[in-house]
Amino acid sequence: MQPARADRRHLLRLAAASAGALWLPRSAWSQPRLRDNPFTLGVASGSPLHDSVVLWTRLLQTGLFGGSSLPDVPITVRWELAHDEAFTRIAQLGQAQALPELGHSVHVEPAGLDSERSYFYRFMVGGDGNDWVSAVGRTRTLPAPDARPASLRLAYASCQRWEHGYFSAWRHLVADRPDAVVFLGDYIYEYPGAGNAVRQPTGSWTLTLDDYRKRYALYKGDADLQAAHAACPWFVVWDDHEVQNDYAGLTAGDNGPAVADFPARRAAAYQAFYEHMPLRASVLTRALGGLGTGAEMRIYGRVRFGQLATMHLLDARQYRSPHACTPGGKVGSGTVDPASCANWMDPARTMLGPEQERWLADSLGRSAGEGGWNLLGQTTLFGPRDFKPGAGQMLWNDGWDGYTLARRRLIDALRKHRVANPVLLGGDVHENWVGHVLADYADPASERVGVEFCGTSITSRSSGSARTAERLAENPHFVFADAERRGYGIADITPQQMNVSLRVVSDVTVRDAQIETLAKFAVQAGRPRIERA
Ligand SMILES: [Fe+2]
Repeated sequence: MQPARADRRHLLRLAAASAGALWLPRSAWSQPRLRDNPFTLGVASGSPLHDSVVLWTRLLQTGLFGGSSLPDVPITVRWELAHDEAFTRIAQLGQAQALPELGHSVHVEPAGLDSERSYFYRFMVGGDGNDWVSAVGRTRTLPAPDARPASLRLAYASCQRWEHGYFSAWRHLVADRPDAVVFLGDYIYEYPGAGNAVRQPTGSWTLTLDDYRKRYALYKGDADLQAAHAACPWFVVWDDHEVQNDYAGLTAGDNGPAVADFPARRAAAYQAFYEHMPLRASVLTRALGGLGTGAEMRIYGRVRFGQLATMHLLDARQYRSPHACTPGGKVGSGTVDPASCANWMDPARTMLGPEQERWLADSLGRSAGEGGWNLLGQTTLFGPRDFKPGAGQMLWNDGWDGYTLARRRLIDALRKHRVANPVLLGGDVHENWVGHVLADYADPASERVGVEFCGTSITSRSSGSARTAERLAENPHFVFADAERRGYGIADITPQQMNVSLRVVSDVTVRDAQIETLAKFAVQAGRPRIERA
């Protein structure tokens, strides 16, 4: 899986060529005639700042066995960014190369845009009256750093297992008109299918770059998902299934065929993630030459929504320690009695890795002087969830429960810097959990440091609701839980208040599911207490 050194040099050269190519005349590039529409995966925008945003597409004509039938050459793609949906007032335009080495994906980063402004964008290939034009996407820049926006509507979502259902949730999310989507992991699943599958994925276990590309292509062929990407910019982080269930850092999980070289599998999966997400080129710490070779992909970061809110987006997979005390001496996750686990409280065990942890402490320190809301976009349930009623504990070691001291360090950082209005957003557990972040979870009367909204899945199943009430009673820092319903969350943020609506679909096994609000909550600024609204 390691490309030869010459290949890496080739990729670096291509990266340089691609960066400098934007304004060369079209005739300078090879331009194969495309008989069919190559814009089959839609468009997307993401990683917005106050003056720029990433525009994304990937050219794909599906050939034999789900692979691409496009010629193995760079293809010039033109792009337009306009103030209006009819593209009569063009703000910027240019050209980019869709490189076969990147699956013919395109990432454009127009800069110098107006803040807090909606734009429309599209891509074109071909020429001589033989153009293919992509769908039109709508995007939006963030408020300027010193702006005081009156409101912000963020959607948060995670876990969209294809075979578990239809993506109706995305269709309804579009109608809710969020300013941005925060996607918190499990964009794809690596499995070959599921029992009682609602729809059957093509392909088997995803193990190679080609497998991951095909899996993303399958998901991104979904019209509802395409509509959600075209509606607004997305922030994205990954969890485990973008690579393999329960992997931790460079340690594999134990689902599916054993792979001799897990780091190479992870590198392939990370490359496919980059190819399919509206990420900035700056996430590639060693540029394109680092793709496929195991270089760090730095997807964590800090986002300012003017003076209204800051979001700290976290990567809880790439750098984490292996799971502690998984039963049977296995790798992967399990439910553990922490009293019987020697390294449960080992301070060296980390969820974010030492470097990201230092970065987060610094980011929270910067927030100390800033006010507003502080959102932590991370992948999983934050507060403890003890599965064992009464005395003793049984904890799931894949979530923050399995990284107890790392969680304590994060809480301590929130307190030390007196971070204003911390709100933890999460996913992963396929259930809605709403609660308070406590200074000391062992003491229910301890200081409330912040609030937590861990969202349900778009489609992925939960293990059922038979014990939800019992678990809520056992873990009183949570005020609400629901394991029955799939959907997403909408957070409406103003300087004074945050309102969160848990939006749920009627049935993921049918294409035309309806939407409703399962519960609404309010949090007043300066007062970390969840109220039922
Ligand atoms: Fe998931």
